[in-house]
Amino acid sequence: MLSLAGRTASPARQPVPVRVGGFGGAAGLTNYLVKERIAVLIDATHPYASNISANAVAAAEHANVPFIVLRRPAWTAVAGDRWIEVSDVREAVRALGKTARRVFVALGRQEIEPLIDAPQHSYLIRSVDPIEPPLPLRRASYITARGPFGETDDRALLTAHRIEVVMAKNSGGTATYGKIAAARALGIPVIMLRRPHEPAGPAVDTVEDAIAWLDHVLTSAAARGV
Ligand SMILES: NC(=O)c1ccc[n+]([C@@H]2O[C@H](COP(=O)([O-])OP(=O)(O)OC[C@H]3O[C@@H](n4cnc5c(N)ncnc54)[C@H](OP(=O)(O)O)[C@@H]3O)[C@@H](O)[C@H]2O)c1
Repeated sequence: MLSLAGRTASPARQPVPVRVGGFGGAAGLTNYLVKERIAVLIDATHPYASNISANAVAAAEHANVPFIVLRRPAWTAVAGDRWIEVSDVREAVRALGKTARRVFVALGRQEIEPLIDAPQHSYLIRSVDPIEPPLPLRRASYITARGPFGETDDRALLTAHRIEVVMAKNSGGTATYGKIAAARALGIPVIMLRRPHEPAGPAVDTVEDAIAWLDHVLTSAAARGV
């Protein structure tokens, strides 16, 4: 069972059963695991979705369900990258400085409100669903698009909009790395939000490793007749 929060209006189709919507905190997730007789829990959420990750740790413990975190490793800066690392969006906005700049924003619609505090900049904001209502900013434009985003396309986009700085999260993986590689190629800085936390419990980097762990857990359970 794949669980989605329900943030995206029309999520990509998945080849497994899907449920949508919050559980009602760690207690709600614990109840779900017990009621649905869930055998194992994999936290495969986005590295910045801290609440559901914390709830998953607690619920797995309370429901006594084997648990693992599947987390894409963070990107690391390589030669040519000009990263400015910050802790949150407010600090990212401060890092833009007072002088007007042209900013590409690759953040979710839930978190871009602090941009309002720096109306001198021009923002190009890319999101999966439209930003409704738009931010009260005179110089903001919006693109709705769903990844993966490659370097060539993102480079063309940054160039066409004369972008001077990119604001992004360290999501890891390849699907959203295009803008990071494009910024490097164009020599423009990336204001990079640090990851909020790293997994507390056992973690794997790849789907293959998660499946290997799953096989191991389920085989051991079967051997014990559970
Ligand atoms: N944060 C990001 O930067 C980011 C980026 C891309 C995609 N996403 C995806 O968007 C979703 C929400 O992100 P967020 O940062 O708002 O999460 P969050 O702060 O960790 O979670 C807020 C609440 O949303 C519900 N929720 C989150 N993920 C859920 C799931 N997979 N299934 C059921 N309920 C879920 C839970 O509600 P209850 O307490 O009621 O259970 C949770 O307490 C996540 O699934 C994440 O993978 C997040």
